Amino acid sequence: CGIVGYVGGRPALSIVLDGLRRLEYRGYDSAGVAVINSDTVLTEKKAGKLANLEKALADRLSDDIATGTTAIGHTRWATHGGPTDRNAHPHLSADGRVAVIHNGIIENFARLRAELEATGVEFTSDTDTECAAHLLAAEVRALRESGAVDGPQLLAEGMRRTVSRLEGAFTLLAVDVQVPGAVVAARRNSPLVVGRGKGENFLASDVSAFIEHTRDAIELGQDQVVLITPDAIEITGFDGSPAAGHEFHIDWDASAAEKGGYDYFMLKEIAEQPQAIADTLLGRLSDRGEIVLDEVRLTDQDLRDIDKVFIVACGTAYHAGMVAKYAIEHWVRIPCEVELASEFRYRDPILDRSTLVIAISQSGETMDTLMAVRHAKEQKARVLAICNTNGSTIPRESDAVLYTHGGPEIAVASTKAFLTQLVATYLIGLHLAQIRGVMYADEVAAVVEKLRSTPDALRELLNSMEDVRALARDLKTASTVLFIGRHVGFPVALEGALKLKELAYMHAEGFAAGELKHGPIALIDEGTPVVCVVPSPAGRGVMRDKVVSNIQEVRARGARTIVIAEEGDEDVRAYADHLIPVPHTPTLLAPLMTTVPLQILACEIAAARGHDVDQPRNLAKSVTVE
Ligand code: G6P
Repeated sequence: CGIVGYVGGRPALSIVLDGLRRLEYRGYDSAGVAVINSDTVLTEKKAGKLANLEKALADRLSDDIATGTTAIGHTRWATHGGPTDRNAHPHLSADGRVAVIHNGIIENFARLRAELEATGVEFTSDTDTECAAHLLAAEVRALRESGAVDGPQLLAEGMRRTVSRLEGAFTLLAVDVQVPGAVVAARRNSPLVVGRGKGENFLASDVSAFIEHTRDAIELGQDQVVLITPDAIEITGFDGSPAAGHEFHIDWDASAAEKGGYDYFMLKEIAEQPQAIADTLLGRLSDRGEIVLDEVRLTDQDLRDIDKVFIVACGTAYHAGMVAKYAIEHWVRIPCEVELASEFRYRDPILDRSTLVIAISQSGETMDTLMAVRHAKEQKARVLAICNTNGSTIPRESDAVLYTHGGPEIAVASTKAFLTQLVATYLIGLHLAQIRGVMYADEVAAVVEKLRSTPDALRELLNSMEDVRALARDLKTASTVLFIGRHVGFPVALEGALKLKELAYMHAEGFAAGELKHGPIALIDEGTPVVCVVPSPAGRGVMRDKVVSNIQEVRARGARTIVIAEEGDEDVRAYADHLIPVPHTPTLLAPLMTTVPLQILACEIAAARGHDVDQPRNLAKSVTVE
């Protein structure tokens, strides 16, 4: 989500709206503002793009909302609660004094909501955020009554007490009519920067929101609260101890700032993948290592009755489905087929009540996938969507949905959505195995533990991509690039080839490593680059040895081998013209690592060839025709 806060001497509304416009790439399913003017908090919020909010505000420009000098604003990418006017931020406390906006996920919101409802609080939205508004209002009220603190400190201390009740990831911004001229914010695991102005200060989820007003910024650390007034910025830890953020001067231009300093949205989104995985796992793993998928509205009995799984998807999402097949069949021990959504219904697949159809779609609007969903429903199958866009058509028409929390993906070529789709299918596989009693709790817990460690491993990998960049510059004139892999490495090979086609407009193909000798090996000529995805030597060592043999086969025919293998797998070095080491992961989870160098490779080759990386020719982010 995009978040902006302002306090100073100028009318705040237009400053906040300008900021939101710059942040619209962070979320665009609804938007809202809250402005403090004398003793009222004035809000406006609307579902849909920012333009809808601006239209609603156009009628109120003579109103107090246009002149107040303290404001917060939000563009939303829904996680809890669909994208409606009601669920748009800001959310108000029951007494209407406190307004809160939020980016992230409050994991324990169901418990907090029940607790607040038991005290008589009536909720006006389905969001997790609204809890924070009620809690903060109650804390500020209690502090005021106790006389312990006053003025803006009421808000800061109230916020510290509120966040001590919250679990999950969040950036929260709040204003209170009784504490005019102040905005308070808290940050845990979700970005927040402060802009230091003269007689005015800013808050935002990234600097692009205030870059036209100031270039002096402070990045908040983990678990910090910041209070801004026109003349002061005060930072503390959640425990109240004084703290300092990281001060920096912004020397990017506004468009680079939107991309977080990266040249392309795609590179930014690649870099966001560890966080996107962590967010998708958030709230779905119990302390005992079990999978909690409460939003999946199919009962345990429904899921026990299933005797077959079909996965339907297009493009990159289809590759996620191919990986999922290996995981689901291995863990759940029921047959799982993957089908291109555009082919599904024409084949007249055999479906009934005991078939689970999993539709994977980042946008939730892909027409081919939607038609497959409709066909499955007509045949009485149960449909579970994996989707990144709350409230979109596919989840609406499905029986159940598991949202990936990847955040908006702007680049046409899918990256973070793919990895979060993998995580979602792993969660579903483990969940099915758990409730069907096919896996013991400790086996599930062991995989969960590994999943939890993937964001850190991926961060480590992302920090060692310099060689891949250099290699990309080298490969930019290749006429064809082949990709090979076995088992889950096969869909990774297909995804690597797809990325290269999409971005670099180069001929590229992915093959199952074992199939090469049955035909495609004839393509190999002196110097043909072949990217080889090598399985881990641990676990299924046989498979890895087979791939190593395939590498030798292509090399013997003149191929230039680019080998993606696990760190420490020294034996492959002898067969690799270029070795790209990735951290160890169990075999089924390996695509979370091995895909990433291929994303970077394609992106860098495309950039070196002078292409528009974020908007490749002939492609659309979401294809709504069949
Ligand atoms: C388009 C995009 C692809 C994407 C596919 C499926 O073709 O260009 O990057 O993988 O649609 O999109 P979805 O939103 O259904 O995941």
